[in-house]
Amino acid sequence: MLINFEGIDGCGKTTQMGLLLDRLLGNGHDTIALREPGGTDVSEAIRTLLLDDKYHIEPIAELLLFSAARAQLTAQRIRPALHSGQIVLLDRYYDSTTAYQGYGRQQLSLEAIDEVNKVATGGLEPDVTFYFDVDIDLAFSRRSAQADRMEQSGRDFYQRVRDGDRALAIRHADRF
Ligand code: TYD
Repeated sequence: MLINFEGIDGCGKTTQMGLLLDRLLGNGHDTIALREPGGTDVSEAIRTLLLDDKYHIEPIAELLLFSAARAQLTAQRIRPALHSGQIVLLDRYYDSTTAYQGYGRQQLSLEAIDEVNKVATGGLEPDVTFYFDVDIDLAFSRRSAQADRMEQSGRDFYQRVRDGDRALAIRHADRF
């Protein structure tokens, strides 16, 4: 079973995922937790690049870099774990790409983003998605002083991302 956790930075999803991980492990369920972008050596290297504010990354390059990190994670960690019967908890999955690179950056059609998401994952869909919706001001107040490259994107960007998450929750009401 594949479960992803979504919401804007500072929504609390990582904390909640940790609690679910403890509960599942405590009940004897073989479970692993992974984060995006990350989880493999290549994906962690891409993460460092994506979050470093010394780079200016074009929106389409950003989409492809997040997707490259995901392709690596899906092939090397997620699919093997699911195959061996583990429950996989994911701190973000391709819904983040739809929300941030799609709704947030507004450079590509959602159809194109859907297609890239499908290619990166070979069409591997989550079974359940936990979405944490918080007010932008509350999320911003929880940030650390040092904002990473994504976090420097501004309030309007985060408002669009939040709108995107909410639209996804309606579009995929079967799993959200
Ligand atoms: P991270 O520090 O993990 O933030 P958070 O704790 O909020 O998950 O950094 C990941 C950042 O990358 C975060 O700002 C969301 C963004 N992101 C995208 O823009 N697209 C994506 O596909 C993913 C997975 C993350």
